[in-house]
Amino acid sequence: MALVTETTKQVLDRILSIEIVRVTERAAVSAARLRGHGNEKAADQAAVDAMRRELSKLPIGGTVVIGEGERDEAPMLFIGETVGTGKGPKVDIAVDPLEGTTLCAKNMAGAIATMAMAESGTLLNAPDVYMEKIAIGPGYPKDLVDLDVSPAENIMRLAKAKGVRPQDITALILDRTRHADMIAAVRKTGAAVALITDGDVAGVIHTAQPDATGIDIYLGIGGAPEGVLAAAALACIGGQMQCRLVLDTEEKRSRAAKMGIKDPRKKYGITDMVKGDCVFAATGVTDGNMLRGVKFRKDFIETETVVMRSVTGTVRWVRAEHRQLQKFHLD
Ligand code: FBP
Repeated sequence: MALVTETTKQVLDRILSIEIVRVTERAAVSAARLRGHGNEKAADQAAVDAMRRELSKLPIGGTVVIGEGERDEAPMLFIGETVGTGKGPKVDIAVDPLEGTTLCAKNMAGAIATMAMAESGTLLNAPDVYMEKIAIGPGYPKDLVDLDVSPAENIMRLAKAKGVRPQDITALILDRTRHADMIAAVRKTGAAVALITDGDVAGVIHTAQPDATGIDIYLGIGGAPEGVLAAAALACIGGQMQCRLVLDTEEKRSRAAKMGIKDPRKKYGITDMVKGDCVFAATGVTDGNMLRGVKFRKDFIETETVVMRSVTGTVRWVRAEHRQLQKFHLD
């Protein structure tokens, strides 16, 4: 048993943390061809097709646990779909081939292609529903912030722990009417609110490096798949995150139950969502704070990818020039 686990780890270490880069690169390039075309579906489909093609080449027995949707509603990369050659370690796969479909369709900042891979059975198998999320960077006492206290209380706790005034804290929140009260409550503490129109995977990751990004805390409700992907990134680079699925109808509770979720009100920490070693990668589609977008040059295509491994905490920034892709229009 120990031997099997060791082999899986070695293979993950040796090849997959680089192979995964190819997967997000190709998805990003395909989506980027449709940047600014106003067609979210087409851009998403292009990213899905490319990601699936690349995944099929990986020497893994992969199962999509976070995907484009549940089996009936997603033709490809649906939850439960098997990917890879089947000859390799069994792994869980979380994908968001195009995170920020609207950002891509409108050619706005921050669209990325992203995925995570982890040992089989270790990623939270979450339905495609909303999720409450709160995230802060590394170095704070455990459970400093909590979904069950008010946003204002979370800001005060964070400011105290950081040794600053609430006025010195910046909270990142998705600009949605459902967050109006939260935004007002945060502003009332004196803290600044940075609003994003989409893209909370990167939003959460921003909290891991507050000195570089200026973001101290992420608050609000976004997609559950995006929550698990962000948790995979934080499992690699550090930080705290607490999440809770929004299972507000019987239908959602029963979908979740079918995926093994027994307590619909459970609060998930990072290690509840990502229980084993994982690798996370994201490639920029449009320029963003975290990653440069795809650049189509005359002779090559440029991509920028960040890839992280939880086992070592290594973060690699991969700038690639794809000559064949551009020459033969392979994407
Ligand atoms: P898509 O790429 O699926 O459009 O997701 C973008 C996103 O902004 C996510 O980052 C976020 O978690 C979710 O949408 C929020 O959902 P909604 O747009 O319904 O508020």
